[in-house]
Amino acid sequence: MKNVIAFAGSNSKSSINKQLAVYAGSLLEDVTVNILDLNDFELPLYGVDLEADKGVPEEAHAFIGLIKNSDGIILSLAEHNGAYSTAFKNLFDWMSRIESKTFFGKPMLLMATSPGGRGGQSVLEIARGRFPFHNAQIIDVFSLPFFNDNFSDNRITEAGFNSDLIKKVEAFKNVL
Ligand SMILES: Cc1cc2nc3c(=O)[nH]c(=O)nc-3n(C[C@H](O)[C@H](O)[C@H](O)COP(=O)(O)O)c2cc1C
Repeated sequence: MKNVIAFAGSNSKSSINKQLAVYAGSLLEDVTVNILDLNDFELPLYGVDLEADKGVPEEAHAFIGLIKNSDGIILSLAEHNGAYSTAFKNLFDWMSRIESKTFFGKPMLLMATSPGGRGGQSVLEIARGRFPFHNAQIIDVFSLPFFNDNFSDNRITEAGFNSDLIKKVEAFKNVL
């Protein structure tokens, strides 16, 4: 059975991006989906001096190990001031010190959602432009705007967005 990791680029305990990542994972049939939470990988703020003094923390090794051992990645990024959340950027920076090809060529379904009308499109554009330099194989990108209007009871309630995501999850599954 193929093994996919699904997580949010957020450390919010009630992360809407985690809810979206979990939902996307639930659409995958006959695939093991391992839901990850950045709160389980507590990392100090990246700094070159800290790295020189103490090396890369074990938690960053653990997370990149999970990426390496997966068959694919479902990632939904929180958008903070038009960019990655601090928690995600910090993890990304630490992992990039272990291996600059951080995503190991794994197929990725890249998503974002926010309560606003742009649905995290600014952070998605940043990630879409950057992740390929880190050997991400982005299969498709999905943005869900107005999360509170379009998502409830653990699923997307708006038919158009839902069928769009179902198609993208299918395309992702086909390359695992
Ligand atoms: C510091 C901060 C900055 C934010 N900046 C943006 C933004 O630029 N665009 C946006 O759509 N939402 C922004 N938001 C709202 C987030 O989209 C919202 O908090 C969302 O719940 C974050 O996703 P999460 O629940 O998965 O952490 C911001 C929230 C915070 C706390």
